[in-house]
Order: sequence, then C-alpha cells, then structure tokens
Amino acid sequence: MLKNNLLLKTLRKEKVSRPPVWMMRQAGRYLPQYIKLRDKYDFFTRVQTPELACEITIQPVDIVGVDAAIIFSDILVIPQALGMTVLMEEGKGPLLPNTIKSLKDIESLDETGITEKLDYVLKALTLTKKELNNRVPLIGFAGAPFTLLCYMIEGKGSKGFEKAKAFCFSQPELAHQLLSKITRATIAYLKGQAQAGADVVQVFDSWSGLLSPVDFDRFASPYLVEIADALASHVPVILFPKGSSYALHSLSGHKSVSGIGIDWSIQPDKARKESQNNIVLQGNFDPSKLSMPPAEIKKEVTKMIKAFGVQSYIANLGHGILPHIPVDHAKAFVDAVKEYSE
Ligand code: CP3
Repeated sequence: MLKNNLLLKTLRKEKVSRPPVWMMRQAGRYLPQYIKLRDKYDFFTRVQTPELACEITIQPVDIVGVDAAIIFSDILVIPQALGMTVLMEEGKGPLLPNTIKSLKDIESLDETGITEKLDYVLKALTLTKKELNNRVPLIGFAGAPFTLLCYMIEGKGSKGFEKAKAFCFSQPELAHQLLSKITRATIAYLKGQAQAGADVVQVFDSWSGLLSPVDFDRFASPYLVEIADALASHVPVILFPKGSSYALHSLSGHKSVSGIGIDWSIQPDKARKESQNNIVLQGNFDPSKLSMPPAEIKKEVTKMIKAFGVQSYIANLGHGILPHIPVDHAKAFVDAVKEYSE
C-alpha cells in the first residue's frame, strides 16, 4: 500500500485534506545532483540505463519532497522505437535528421515490438517502483500523437512548427495515417508502463495550442481520447494539452479522462466552469514565477489553491520547471501546498 496516496485519491475524486503536488519536468537540470550525472553520462545513456533513470526519478522526491515521482525518460523514445534517429544536442534540444516527408516514410516506421524496444523504460519503472518502496506513486508518460508528429515532421524544436502544420493541412490523409500509427504505438507503450509499475500516466501534448479549436478537434483530440479510452481500465490518465484550454469542455466529458492539466493562460474559476466542475484539474502556476522570492511564491500558491479548491485538484506548474530555478524556490512551491489549510 502506498504511504502517500494523495494523488491517486484525488484522481478517484475522493476527499483529501490537501491537494497533492508535483512539478512537470521535476526530474531534471535545476537539480545539482542531476547536473552531476549529466556531466558524466550523455542524455540517452541516462534515459536507457534503468539504474540512472531510477536515481534521477527519485531525486526530486528526496530533495524537494513532491507527492509523486515521474519516470525519467523522454517523449521522443517513441519516434526512436519506430525507427527514427533522435539526437539530443546538449544545450540545444532534440534533432531528428531524417524527417517524415512522404507515405513511404510513414510506411517505413516499424510499429512492431514497441514494448520490447522500450524495455529499458519498463525496467526503469519496475526498479523505481521497488526503490520508492511505496513512499509516493509513480507517474509514467508519453508524448501525445500531435506533439510527436510535430517533432517527426519538423525534425527539431520550433516556435511555431510551421512545417509540421503545413503537412497536416496540405496532406491531411497522410497526417492521420501518421497520427494513427503513433497512437497505436503509444497505447502499447503506456499499457506496458502500467504493467511495469506506473500508477498514473500523463500524456504531454506540449504543442496542441498551436492548433485552432477546430483543428485541435481534427488532429489532436481524437487521438488523445483514443489513448485515454484504451488506458482507463489499467491506470488513471491525465491529459496535458498545453495552450488548449478551449478543449476543457469537450475533454472533460470523456469518462476515460481522469485529469486535465492546464497552463496559466486560463483562470482557475474559468477552468472549473469550462470543465463543468466535472474533472480533476492540474496546474497551473506560471513556471517563471518560481523566480520570485520564496515568501512571494508561497503567497501565490495559497491564492492558487483557494481559487481551484482543495478537492479534485493537483497542484503543479502550468509547464515544466525552468533550468535556472533555485532548488529552494521549487521547495517553497511544494511546501506551500503541504502547509495549506482551509
Ligand atoms: O518530468 C520529468 O522530470 C520527467 C522527464 C521528462 C523529460 N522530458 C526529461 C528531459 C519529461 C516528462 C519530458 C517530456 C518532454 N520531452 C516534453 C513534454 C513536456 C514539455 O516540456 O513540453 C517534450 C516536448 C520533450 C522533448 C525534449 N526533450 C526537448 C524539447 C528537450 C530539450 C529542451 C528541454 O526542454 O530541456 C528535451 C531534453 C530533456 N528531456 C531534458 C530532460 C531533463 C534536458 C536535457 C538535459 O538535461 O541534458
């Protein structure tokens, strides 16, 4: 039995004494203990070595005191498992030198044996689950199909992913073929993660906000819902369609979705209304605000919890923690949630 099951209770909509708290991208480069490992091993060595991934996953639990661990990995392991070359350039971000351009490229993606190819992630989950010794739940994750399509077409990070969007709009049938292939691989992968020890899974749609509401309904939403429908009987599913608060109304109507992550572009009360007071919400502290002095962070966090309410709420950032944030400030964020009382 989990000693701290605030996150799972919240996702089941059970009553809790305070909201659970974790931070997106909490296992990473604002932590000096992570930087030490980064200096020693390259990115994919860290990801592909279960002992290293396990150590990095547990660091924020020990150091910052979050209520959940998220497995150290990356969303781009799916394109890799499908056969694409993915490089991580230190300080620059991902690079996929051979992008998807044609039907032939899509057909050459090999969706067989996904869980075997990503066995190192499943091993990392099982090892981490054991090492956590039931202290806190373990979150698994994957990239959403639209966000993965963005990287697979564009080949690198981008502000607007114009090439990827042009592909969707000029060759919609091909885009849907690619999205379907990614979706099937992701479902197999996330089922494997649940089996290997993930207590919850989150699907990161980091770039869905680049789509208009109508195009979100074409290229993002159906695939997010397909994943949630396939996983819901295995683990609770949190969707994080960043920048797409316009989708709160429709997504919150799906029983298979346990929680929705939101960024800071929507007020808590509006998000509650949009989601018909019907779903667990997660977020939405502006990660840049962790630059404020700790006492100010605490005040802002208290306001945020008041606005969302204690029940059916997971305290988190509205996107990943930034590399320059002092550990003390991350801790102030977490402590403020833990100290909250009504
Ligand atoms: O949340 C966690 O702490 C778990 C680990 C995790 C990483 N990436 C490790 C990582 C998670 C959940 C991700 C998800 C991810 N990866 C997303 C979705 C979330 C988001 O932030 O929008 C995206 C878009 C990626 C792709 C990716 N990986 C990029 C764009 C980059 C480079 C820039 C950046 O954000 O750091 C990465 C590299 C990466 N993935 C790092 C880490 C800790 C930094 C590399 C390093 O420390 O050397």
